Amino acid sequence: MRLAERLSRLGTDTAFAVSAEAKAYAALGNRVYSFHLGDMNIPTPPNIVEAALKAIREGKTDYCSNYGIPELRQATADDVNRSHGTHYVMDNVVIEPGGKPTISKFIQALMNPRDEVLYPNPGYPIYESQIEFHGGRAVPYTYREGPDGFQIDLDALESAISSRTRLLILNDLQNPTGAEASSEELLQLANLVRQNDLTVLCDEAYFHIRYSGASRSFASLPGMEDRCLLLYTFSKRYCMTGWRLGAAVGPVPLVDAIAKLNVNDESCTNHFVQWAGVEALTGDQSGHERIIRTLHERRDIAVAMLDRIDGVTCFKPNATFYLFPNVTELMERKGLEDYSSFRTACLHETGVSFCTRLHFGRPAPDERARHIRFAFSGIDSADIEEGLASLQRFAER
Ligand SMILES: Cc1ncc(COP(=O)(O)O)c(C=O)c1O
Repeated sequence: MRLAERLSRLGTDTAFAVSAEAKAYAALGNRVYSFHLGDMNIPTPPNIVEAALKAIREGKTDYCSNYGIPELRQATADDVNRSHGTHYVMDNVVIEPGGKPTISKFIQALMNPRDEVLYPNPGYPIYESQIEFHGGRAVPYTYREGPDGFQIDLDALESAISSRTRLLILNDLQNPTGAEASSEELLQLANLVRQNDLTVLCDEAYFHIRYSGASRSFASLPGMEDRCLLLYTFSKRYCMTGWRLGAAVGPVPLVDAIAKLNVNDESCTNHFVQWAGVEALTGDQSGHERIIRTLHERRDIAVAMLDRIDGVTCFKPNATFYLFPNVTELMERKGLEDYSSFRTACLHETGVSFCTRLHFGRPAPDERARHIRFAFSGIDSADIEEGLASLQRFAER
């Protein structure tokens, strides 16, 4: 069998590969502390589970509209308007099986072959994969590390814009760095977007995973609502990663194009799961609040433990469930120059499993600093303490 050529341009979700390796190592009887995958080990709130069961019993087991059920589209528009101050109506919302499908559908709906698309690096690996798979040119922009965490290198981003640049992918509250743009940076970005007539995918997967302050959306800035598509998802906010429920929110012609792609791909998003989504947005929010309290406690423990490790510096993000510690000094001291041997040594000597910077795109040739990513969404506080204490002992040996 000869597979299609375009498959050679398709990447993957690299954290899943690390997960398979950690599972295989654990299956040999080894203790593994799982910091590698942004999955969650907290149950979905019970009112959401009940709503899904009720919908199944009521026979919501057939196809529904490729746009999603009106009740969920309206609840999503209302929810976004409340937090973003936008003016979306039901027609601006199309329901998707998770947040991820919005990435490829945004690209398929707007990008022509050889168009250039700006995307964050380090960043979620699916952007580059989908841009290249669909025949575009993936143009990375990067982040600068400072005392207040990571910030988009706006000068570099501006100089990467060419006459072929059509799209910008923005993941504010970022995976893997936890970066959050300031109001000033968002305004500068909006100017660039206007001047260069770009359309923006705002990947807001972590908009509601926040420990202090308030999240701001790029789409809320004057004139940006018409230029943005929001990637909206229930996965992290309500611990519904495996339910596969999300939405794309934006201008009607784009929403219509995505709904047409839906008919061709999956027909519709799972009908009864959408009723669980209605309950998630309009019902009791104490489940979400509990999720945030749990993650908040884990973040504080993880950052405090990492701070004790000589050769590691770690910014404490206000949002997301990722830490992106700088381990340059520790790697040098251990004589482990490349990421792969450092990761393997940590797994085998401490049981701590994580992704490295390499799992989030190719580093720039002049990139000197070394980073790894810890996800604290799938590991309990006691295991965070135990695992990171083991890492500290490894660092001190
Ligand atoms: C930045 C980012 N965007 C999108 C997604 C996809 O989320 P979902 O599970 O809703 O498809 C993830 C998942 O980890 C993510 O980190």
